[in-house]
Amino acid sequence: MAEDHLCFFTKESLITKPPKKNTLVLRMVVLIFVMICGVYICSVCLGQFGVWSARHSLAINVVERPCEVTEFEPSEQPYVHFPKPKTFSRDECACNPVRNFAILSTQRSGSGWFETLLNSHINISSNGEIFSVKVRRSNISTIRETLDKLYNLDMLTSASKNECTAAVGLKWMLNQGLMQNHEQIVEYFKSNGVSAIFLFRRNLLRRMISILANSYDQNAKPLNGTHKSHVHSTHEAKILAKYKPTINTTLLIPNLKQVEDLVTKSLQYFKSTRHIILYYEDIITNRTKLVDVQEFLKVPQRDLHSRQVKIHKGPLSSQVENWEDVRKTLKGTQYKSFLEEDYKL
Ligand SMILES: *[C@@H]1O[C@H](CO)[C@@H](O)[C@H](O)[C@H]1NC(C)=O
Ligand SMILES: *[C@@H]1O[C@H](CO)[C@@H](O)[C@H](O)[C@H]1NC(C)=O
Ligand SMILES: *[C@@H]1O[C@H](CO)[C@@H](O)[C@H](O)[C@H]1NC(C)=O
Ligand SMILES: *[C@@H]1O[C@H](CO)[C@@H](O)[C@H](O)[C@H]1NC(C)=O
Ligand SMILES: *[C@@H]1O[C@H](CO)[C@@H](O)[C@H](O)[C@H]1NC(C)=O
Repeated sequence: MAEDHLCFFTKESLITKPPKKNTLVLRMVVLIFVMICGVYICSVCLGQFGVWSARHSLAINVVERPCEVTEFEPSEQPYVHFPKPKTFSRDECACNPVRNFAILSTQRSGSGWFETLLNSHINISSNGEIFSVKVRRSNISTIRETLDKLYNLDMLTSASKNECTAAVGLKWMLNQGLMQNHEQIVEYFKSNGVSAIFLFRRNLLRRMISILANSYDQNAKPLNGTHKSHVHSTHEAKILAKYKPTINTTLLIPNLKQVEDLVTKSLQYFKSTRHIILYYEDIITNRTKLVDVQEFLKVPQRDLHSRQVKIHKGPLSSQVENWEDVRKTLKGTQYKSFLEEDYKL
């Protein structure tokens, strides 16, 4: 169409020039000659372009040998991915399968520590709380976009392992858009083969103490004016553990119940996805749990390690200012077990 228009325009502009009698015929001949040449050149160009594009797509087909998902058990196939990142090439690991995962947790439940353990594995890339950035969880479209980028290995964080990553994921707190958008997220997990790792804390009283201490630290910053949620030395841990929160006993039981309900609800919402449920206390006391996790993620078994140091050690009674009130409030309730020692370090 464009050529026709161009030809027409040329012809008209030529014709509108006042023609001299003796050159008119010559001009017409030249014009017709030019038009024929133009059409010929165009057709040759198009022909070559056609051949070129055919060859080009042939070349792509040859280079991009499809990775065989059929090599895997039918039940595993939905969870096996061969991402083609835009930001780098997977090179020799292009056909190593990648599994998608999400750690679903609540604040101060040991998920930071758990994530450093996972990231000590050469083939695992867990990218932290990417949904702590509010715009990413604005609505389900931005959530999907963020997850697409992550699972295509294009989210570059300090945890990125690039070409030989065999499991990629994030840490997602229940209050970061997960519960509000649960239906669409479950759908996304299913259609993108995302496995869920639930990580909770059994002793919700300890968790509450950790939250209170952390929010105190956020304001007081006893470590030379910096706030640290997690520490790497026993010296720092001791300073942070010096602070003993006072627990509001009126709110204690309603608060514990609220967290318990949230956890139950999240398990209910996501129960139809492929998942594993872990408890912080169990991982501390039983390192076999880390074998379970690696099996769940289908990565080669390795020793996992973390440099993080636990802030609160020793009996709970020494960690709370008004322990006697707390003890009285929980005695004889469904939460009485939280008062007992649940693990020794
Ligand atoms: C989702 O949120 C983003 C960022 O806040 C916004 O630009 C976009 O219009 C929203 N989309 C819908 C469908 O609401
Ligand atoms: C794990 O990473 C190593 C080193 O990059 C690589 O050689 C190996 O193939 C990877 N394993 C898997 C299962 O992807
Ligand atoms: C604060 O800084 C001083 C001097 O740099 C150092 O000796 C001390 O250990 C630091 N304290 C903490 C809690 O990091
Ligand atoms: C505990 O919380 C309740 C409800 O917010 C409040 O009315 C009460 O003053 C608090 N008690 C203490 C000792 O802070
Ligand atoms: C440790 O964890 C493994 C794997 O989940 C489990 O089979 C075993 O019973 C646990 N051991 C103890 C002492 O709880």
